[in-house]
Amino acid sequence: MMNAMCIEDLRRLAKRNVPRVFFEYMEAGSYSEHTRDANVDDMRTIKLRQRVLVDMSQRKLSTTVLGEELSMPLALAPTGLAGMQHADGEILACRAAHAVGIQYCQSTMSICSIEDIGAAVTKPWWFQLYVMRDRGFVKALIERAEKAGCTALFLTVDLPVNGQRHVDMRNGLSVPPRLTARTVFDVLMRPTWAWRILNGKRKTFANIAGHLPGGSGFGGMTLAEWTHSQFDVTVSWKDVAWIRSIWPRKLVLKGILDPEDAREALKTGADGIVVSNHGGRQLDGAPSTIAALPKVADAIGGQKEILLDSGVRTGQDIFRALALGANACMIGRPFLYGLGAGGEAGVARAIDIFRSELDTTMILAGIDDVRKIDHRAIASELPGEFKERN
Ligand SMILES: Cc1cc2nc3c(=O)[nH]c(=O)nc-3n(C[C@H](O)[C@H](O)[C@H](O)COP(=O)(O)O)c2cc1C
Repeated sequence: MMNAMCIEDLRRLAKRNVPRVFFEYMEAGSYSEHTRDANVDDMRTIKLRQRVLVDMSQRKLSTTVLGEELSMPLALAPTGLAGMQHADGEILACRAAHAVGIQYCQSTMSICSIEDIGAAVTKPWWFQLYVMRDRGFVKALIERAEKAGCTALFLTVDLPVNGQRHVDMRNGLSVPPRLTARTVFDVLMRPTWAWRILNGKRKTFANIAGHLPGGSGFGGMTLAEWTHSQFDVTVSWKDVAWIRSIWPRKLVLKGILDPEDAREALKTGADGIVVSNHGGRQLDGAPSTIAALPKVADAIGGQKEILLDSGVRTGQDIFRALALGANACMIGRPFLYGLGAGGEAGVARAIDIFRSELDTTMILAGIDDVRKIDHRAIASELPGEFKERN
């Protein structure tokens, strides 16, 4: 694991270990995948100011996010099926995050349940919520997260319907996987993965078991078909108000990309937002999050905390997001690569890579405290969309 020098190295290892159907699920963006690719490509266009001859012996990477002290401005984003990248993936990722003082956000669509994580970790974690048609079930999920001691609820607002991912349709993605000749061959080629899954805690979506047509499976539906039948295009700001009235702790709206929505978010009792396009898995053609961030940050005007995800692949990217107005970042695929590459140790390695890259970037940019990183850290020549704002 220590030979992995960068997130791309972990990606290559994960590709070897994880059956194709789940690796491709993780990698996919919606439709033409333009937004997924733009998230990464746009990051690279932002040039940083190199500053020299500043004493950098006292550096501070820790910061406060949602009232919690984090050892660096980073958290693991909620990702469905993490437990299919590696057995007990959600528990392992949460442990790896807690071990180094950052936070983990568990997805509604986890393989391990809220209670499974509660029994396996000693510190509180965050929970992500999808609003499904059955509001009674949504309320029950919120109550479970509260009972388990989750300190923040991330309400995902960019998925009233599933953006189509062609590869999942072609693979007929289902959990547990449908037994076609191809999936059987695929799994047989990864015996270590299969052995661990067989011996792991869960093999299907434990949070929503009991809400699945087949009891614990999809009753013959693919994941996309099930999502389509459960997710709700009527979700509105009224639901945010309802959830705010029943959730007593920190509330974050995940999936804000437009300044007008950011201004609307200011009227709610939410404590923060995540500038996110779901890793390019929803509205294909939407701007990258790093391109959208400056205007959203202007609209928020420091009144709520801003996290950013989608396309964060290096410590330099965290630095860029902080410089353009975020308080912290979240990572999805990068920690899943670590999970697929080496379970808990792999996630730990992914986080360590980000920490080391951010630390070095701060030294070379002459900024000794993450909270001091602002627009002055960006080289004045900004390309295209960024130039327009500045
Ligand atoms: C495999 C996968 C599953 C995801 N599942 C969820 C989910 O269940 N809930 C959610 O709010 N976001 C989900 N997301 C989006 C992530 O929370 C996050 O916004 C995105 O991964 C960030 O982009 P990145 O992968 O480029 O870091 C998922 C993303 C991936 C890659």
